[in-house]
Amino acid sequence: MGLNYYKIKKNVLKARKLVIKGTIAAASGHPGGSFSMAEIMGCLFNKYLRFDPKNPLWEDRDRLILSKGHASPGLFSNLAVAGYFDPSEIETLRKFGSRLQGHPDLKCPGVEFCGGSLGLGLSYSIGNALAAKIDGKSHRIYTIIGDGESDEGQVWEAAMAAAKFKVDNMTVFVDRNFIQQDSYTEKIMPLDETLEGDDLSEMWRDASRWKLSDKWRAFGWNVIDIDGHRIEQIDHAIKKANQTKGVPSIIIARTIKGKGVEHMEDNPQWHGKAPKPEMAPIINAELESQFMIAPSIIAGDMSNLENEVKRCAEGRADYIHLDVMDGVFVPNTTFDHTKIKQLRPLTVIPFDAHLMINEPVKHVRDYVDAGCDIVTVHTEVCDESSFGEIKDVLQQNQVGVGLAINPDTNLPQWSHKFIADLDQLIVMSVVPGKSGQKYIESSHEKTQNLVKILKDNKFEGTIEADGGVTLDNVGQCFVDGARAFVGGSAIIGQKDVRGIIREFRNAILKSRRRLLIQKANELGGTELVNNWISLHVIGEKKNQLIQIAKELGFN
Ligand code: DX5
Ligand code: ZN
Repeated sequence: MGLNYYKIKKNVLKARKLVIKGTIAAASGHPGGSFSMAEIMGCLFNKYLRFDPKNPLWEDRDRLILSKGHASPGLFSNLAVAGYFDPSEIETLRKFGSRLQGHPDLKCPGVEFCGGSLGLGLSYSIGNALAAKIDGKSHRIYTIIGDGESDEGQVWEAAMAAAKFKVDNMTVFVDRNFIQQDSYTEKIMPLDETLEGDDLSEMWRDASRWKLSDKWRAFGWNVIDIDGHRIEQIDHAIKKANQTKGVPSIIIARTIKGKGVEHMEDNPQWHGKAPKPEMAPIINAELESQFMIAPSIIAGDMSNLENEVKRCAEGRADYIHLDVMDGVFVPNTTFDHTKIKQLRPLTVIPFDAHLMINEPVKHVRDYVDAGCDIVTVHTEVCDESSFGEIKDVLQQNQVGVGLAINPDTNLPQWSHKFIADLDQLIVMSVVPGKSGQKYIESSHEKTQNLVKILKDNKFEGTIEADGGVTLDNVGQCFVDGARAFVGGSAIIGQKDVRGIIREFRNAILKSRRRLLIQKANELGGTELVNNWISLHVIGEKKNQLIQIAKELGFN
């Protein structure tokens, strides 16, 4: 059974956009702490929590306790996406008579705990977990506490109690975003080491400063440290926590407050403030343009693919692009599902399998069993019937559905009915068969033309640019509409994978910032451009944006 990675990503985006809609409608609320826990919530609601939105009090439901109750927009948005109530209700946030108040209360279906007065949720969770054990019930308790919340002494009393009573039917997350109320946690009451300046990267660049995990271990807990925005890491941590018996488990999720919107990220101002209405379209455009880097390992040492996977992991790749070639659909052969199965245990990073093989319908199950997170097949060797079968097999197994087209192929008419189901469309920008080829320039226009067809057919997936993508053309590939970028010779072919991936991210980021400035200008001229740029008060972002605006003639 797959991770369901792509469905989770899609629903996390929907939830973030609802947080923006709700806090703007209320002209108040907590977007920062809603965004830092967004992927955690997405994993819980779309993979782990057992619940029935039509029967919110089902006695065997899993319980989700949001102890950091001020992040209620992050909870309500996920409840809406999960079907507890119509998403439009989010616009009643904090209004008199609404079920959606500034802090959760039991009037709202799906809410288990009236969080808000910090420090209490963990104790309440332990009570729930012990009651479940006494009643012989198998449901689980999931709890999210804040790092700033951990200043409350009751958290540590609960930590002791959970260890004493061996509360192992409860999985706790710390949303470790390093910001509380109006400043940085490590300046107010350090959980790790004191933060001298305002440069948060000082805190997480050097793991030797991390003390919070040691605190929980000292209290007798099983502790798992993760990147709290990597869905695959959250999934793996929950699995490990839920398998751990005899001791309580806590997942310390390193997160970014305001994650997803650059001017909110790591900015204490967005702990409890709503965006201005005129910023909504720009913020939504930014949320919709998150991007992923997918190194193609066949550009590395084919005799040691294990090492190539490790290089991707060390390089912080978002996906690992696995080019399967059968020597029939394309002249070369690379590897097949048996190799992928061997590589799977090496990393939790999503496997992005690109099948350049004939008769994919005969083999798709092998790639599901091998642990691929998405399987992409070529339209050139499918028809409506066979692709329909492939889609069903993948969806039934919670694996992403991908379709690929060669440079000289367009989307065939039969494929249009499947566009709304696609998680990914690979637009080949080289003739498939090997890495190291030159980008076919006409692919830019082809991708731009495809965006309209996809939009008209309710595409909610990602366009992946695959073939000859380099630092020089990746910015344009982003402008064309691609949001996933395969890098074979340009990434894996390089010595410093981590360095080159960082350069790719910076090149794409610059391209995205240009697009957002252009959007601001379309919507509100240089005044809105300048107002939006002025929101970026952390680090060097503002100067970088001013420079881009100047290049565009908007400043
Ligand atoms: C080609 C493959 C591509 C290729 C990418 O058939 O589908 O993924 O390996 O490598 P570069 O980026 O070097 O073209
Ligand atoms: Zn490929």
